[in-house]
Amino acid sequence: MAAFLPPAGLAPPRPLQGLGTRARGRRPTPCRRWSATAAPPPSPAPLPSRLSAEVIPPWAGDSLLARAVTALIGVAPIYAVLTWQAKAVLVRTAERKGVPWVATRDAILDAVANDAALAAATDAAVAYPDYYLRPFHAYADGNLCWEAAAEAEAATQVVGLRTFPAEPLTPAQAFDRLRTPVYEQMAAALDGPRGVGVNGLRLVVDVGCGVGVGTVALRSFLADRQAAAAAAGSDVPPPDLQVLAVDLSPYMLAVAASRAAAPGVTYVHGRAEALPVPPGTAGLVALQFVIHEMPAAAIADSIGGAHDALAPGGVLALLDNNPESAVLRALPPALFSLMKSTEPHSDEYYPFDVEAALTAAGFVDVQTVATDHRHRTVTAVKAGLGGA
Ligand SMILES: C[S@@+](CC[C@H](N)C(=O)[O-])C[C@H]1O[C@@H](n2cnc3c(N)ncnc32)[C@H](O)[C@@H]1O
Repeated sequence: MAAFLPPAGLAPPRPLQGLGTRARGRRPTPCRRWSATAAPPPSPAPLPSRLSAEVIPPWAGDSLLARAVTALIGVAPIYAVLTWQAKAVLVRTAERKGVPWVATRDAILDAVANDAALAAATDAAVAYPDYYLRPFHAYADGNLCWEAAAEAEAATQVVGLRTFPAEPLTPAQAFDRLRTPVYEQMAAALDGPRGVGVNGLRLVVDVGCGVGVGTVALRSFLADRQAAAAAAGSDVPPPDLQVLAVDLSPYMLAVAASRAAAPGVTYVHGRAEALPVPPGTAGLVALQFVIHEMPAAAIADSIGGAHDALAPGGVLALLDNNPESAVLRALPPALFSLMKSTEPHSDEYYPFDVEAALTAAGFVDVQTVATDHRHRTVTAVKAGLGGA
């Protein structure tokens, strides 16, 4: 998610005093921060399947502006300042809006950040692709560190609050407001003429589950639907919906496992590109705010991985930033520069033609809905049921 993009209309960022110092030097694997001497990440490779330049934000892809910003970010000291500022603004925004970012992070670090928890969440056979090892979200180790995992839930809350800035919502209300239309769209795709149906779901795979906030919400939505159908006397067996929550970061998974027990949810270390489920067994594969963290080839491979995992009639659902969002298109230079500095695959994500890739992978009934003014949800059905 664009977690490190500060809200529109914010005053120019200034560094947050003391940010991150509490964790430094005390934790098993503290996150390294980029310094002015660190080499910035290399520029991304050209893209395969792309949207036209008129559709994507002018600051993404390979427009002159996009290249100028990427070149700017490529200057190590500027990169270091931008990522620091992006993080500082995000933390300040969170605290101002009632999300106790620092206290939550520190409590999680104290309770969970230890070698035993990490070992329990790690599958040593999982290999990390190169793109995943790059700095990300202002963490030098990307998602592979405790600080990223300890701050993930607060970052998720900021995304919701930032999406509806004019409304007096609590973090939980903003989260629901953002996700409910997404889950409704998933349900509509499942219940469509070629879908397995919500009531037919037994296995859901939530890919890139992070610390599990979206996983638990998604399962609860779907299980409630199944329970309501069963209570209404439909021909539905008692719900036993299992959700496999997959992530490449064992740090995220360790924090997810430490949260309140979630019935029907199992956390697994694995990759979107090769999901750890038997082929053809999942009724729904969801990637919520994951593909903007990937280069184009990995997005295409993840769509392929989901297709392999799904049963005929199963649905793939992708929730992410909407390249066609007027709000994102109109971001002022300071904000899109901050965002691009912390989300290094933006130039590949925004122009990527998701719908074309889904069709090429063998999906049908591809539907894109702007589920709010910043985000879109794309659903697609694996062919093979209902005359597909
Ligand atoms: C922004 S978080 C999304 C968290 C969650 N899905 C939500 O809805 O809030 C993105 C997550 O995707 C994970 N991720 C990125 N690339 C991945 C890959 N190739 N396979 C599995 N997980 C991946 C990251 O580790 C991170 O936890």
